[in-house]
Amino acid sequence: MGLPFPELTAEEAASLIQNGQTLGFSGFTPAGAAKAVPRAIAARAMAEHAAGRPFRIGVVTGASTGESLDGALAAADAIAWRTPYQSNAALRNAINEGRTHFFDMHLSLLQQWIRYGFLGKLHYAVVEASEVTAEGEITLTTSVGASNTFLNHAEKVIIEINSHHPTELYGLHDIFEPADPPFRREIPIYRTRDRCGDTVVRIDPRRIAGVVFTDEPDEVAAFRDADPITKRIGENVAIFLASEIRAGRIPESFLPIQSGVGNIANAVLGALGEHPEIPPFEMYSEVIQDSVIETMEKGKLTFASGTSLTVSNEVLDHIYKNLDFFRRRMVLRPQEISNSPELVRRLGIISVNTAIEVDLFGNVNSTHIMGSSMMNGIGGSGDFTRNAYISIFTCPSLAKGGRISPIVPLCSHLDHSEHSVQVIVTDQGVADLRGKDPHQRSAEIIEKCAHPDFRDELRSYSSDVRNGHTPQTLSRAYGMHQRFLETGSMHGVSWR
Ligand code: COA
Repeated sequence: MGLPFPELTAEEAASLIQNGQTLGFSGFTPAGAAKAVPRAIAARAMAEHAAGRPFRIGVVTGASTGESLDGALAAADAIAWRTPYQSNAALRNAINEGRTHFFDMHLSLLQQWIRYGFLGKLHYAVVEASEVTAEGEITLTTSVGASNTFLNHAEKVIIEINSHHPTELYGLHDIFEPADPPFRREIPIYRTRDRCGDTVVRIDPRRIAGVVFTDEPDEVAAFRDADPITKRIGENVAIFLASEIRAGRIPESFLPIQSGVGNIANAVLGALGEHPEIPPFEMYSEVIQDSVIETMEKGKLTFASGTSLTVSNEVLDHIYKNLDFFRRRMVLRPQEISNSPELVRRLGIISVNTAIEVDLFGNVNSTHIMGSSMMNGIGGSGDFTRNAYISIFTCPSLAKGGRISPIVPLCSHLDHSEHSVQVIVTDQGVADLRGKDPHQRSAEIIEKCAHPDFRDELRSYSSDVRNGHTPQTLSRAYGMHQRFLETGSMHGVSWR
């Protein structure tokens, strides 16, 4: 290759890392995540632990990552603390058992917090790239996430040059890092497809401690086909948005869509693509998933801006074979730009995210099971929800085989308050909370969104309370949760 940097094996790179250091890894979802080096660090941690020596590090990434990063490091018990988001089963256990400190944060804030020094010193950036030049120009791969900030602010840099990704990725990225206050100016993006930055990250090549050559695909899990419930939720979102166009509350040309992660988000995109009254539209979102690509090829999605290309390997191969078509229709930006509250408000984004629980007043829990166990984290849902043109939350009307109602009297954990949440959509229907007081919201959510099996329980909870602006009885608000913890089902709660 002739690069003027030490060529290291993953094990040699891992040997540079010291116990207690903080590392910023590339990866926003498994897309573009570092792989070989974190696996080697995990092996090193296991060897150190076997020798009776401590070895645990702080792990900062863009968002969740793949099995080779969070999975391997958590299995090796090598993560002392972690931020900003995760979705790995082994790591989730370590967090919920108190072995790993997890700091759950809005994804748009991460990069400035690194720059401000709020998370302490970043010792190494470990970043996957498709190409690096002798001058220190780095072309990233399937995600940007927070990699540009890690590369700019870490003391030393290790780069995994992954030849699975073509060097033709050059041009897909738009790297812009705002100045910090008091010198910050506006982010100069006025339409979804505007570009305001550079195609590469440029760093002083002297900070590159070494490069590791790899050839491996991203570890993105395949999406499930939409089941009837997920499909119904997607259709309800599309029907609602079409009625908003008809009512003149959304322009006929439509507005950019942000759609969350996972199977419901995939189904929502699919349903928007199929609805005859939704015109061809654009996305200004975080994650570009399989359904985005499908919708784009049908001509219904004209442009997608995100921070990661989280598609199955099959779809990624298809994109790489048709890169000229897709490069003109998508851009990957740093997460502080893809999730920027300033841009969400300016562009008039319609946000669609998934809730774990919604309460009768429109408060949303996106992160915790029964108030105490962390699921994944808030991710970008707050960045978008708080600032959206219309903020929508979706969830199924039943969870855990019908034993749980995600519609509850009071959320067991709060991520998005009633002041930010405008519309709730389940497989049962749509609750439009705009302009409604807590009594009206409660009736709207029960009658339109709750599952019929739980409506009586919810009605009798809220009809019991008549006083006050918000119909709430603190001593009973967690009756359904308590019932589940005692019997394994929320059914049969007694409010007396
Ligand atoms: N009580 C208990 N468990 C519940 C529940 C509830 N009210 N609602 C869902 N669950 C469980 C499900 O049963 C499932 O459990 P399992 O893994 O044991 O099967 C799990 O939570 C995940 O639910 P699932 O239906 O598979 O949903 P999902 O994959 O669509 O994920 C979130 C839903 C909320 C966890 C996910 O969207 C998330 O992490 N959101 C926060 C971040 C975010 O919004 N990011 C997007 C911003 S761009």
